[in-house]
Amino acid sequence: MSENRSSYYERHIFFCLNQRDNGENCCAQHKAQAAFDRCKSQSKALGLLGPGKVRVNKAGCLDRCAGGPIAVVYPEAVWYSYVDEQDIDEIVQSHLRDGVVVERLRTPPEVGR
Ligand code: FES
Repeated sequence: MSENRSSYYERHIFFCLNQRDNGENCCAQHKAQAAFDRCKSQSKALGLLGPGKVRVNKAGCLDRCAGGPIAVVYPEAVWYSYVDEQDIDEIVQSHLRDGVVVERLRTPPEVGR
């Protein structure tokens, strides 16, 4: 059995929804919750959700805050820095549905906290 077949989900996207109350930069300041909601509703509308398919999950800080708002897709381990709804729709349709990475939204490799 291939590694992919044994995984419960074909793809898993995690959105950092971290909120910092001390005024420091965080993904929650950049509409991460709205992006998470959009990703979930669009994925559902396209019939992508469920076992063997896609799972959309909330996450805490992923420690790459400087590139925020941040989401990461596994098993490819592709990190995204998105801006708006159109970016989310593109990630859903291109990567989550078709398996094609959205290169223009990739978080630069050097970006950390
Ligand atoms: S606050 Fe989102 S990656 Fe750290």
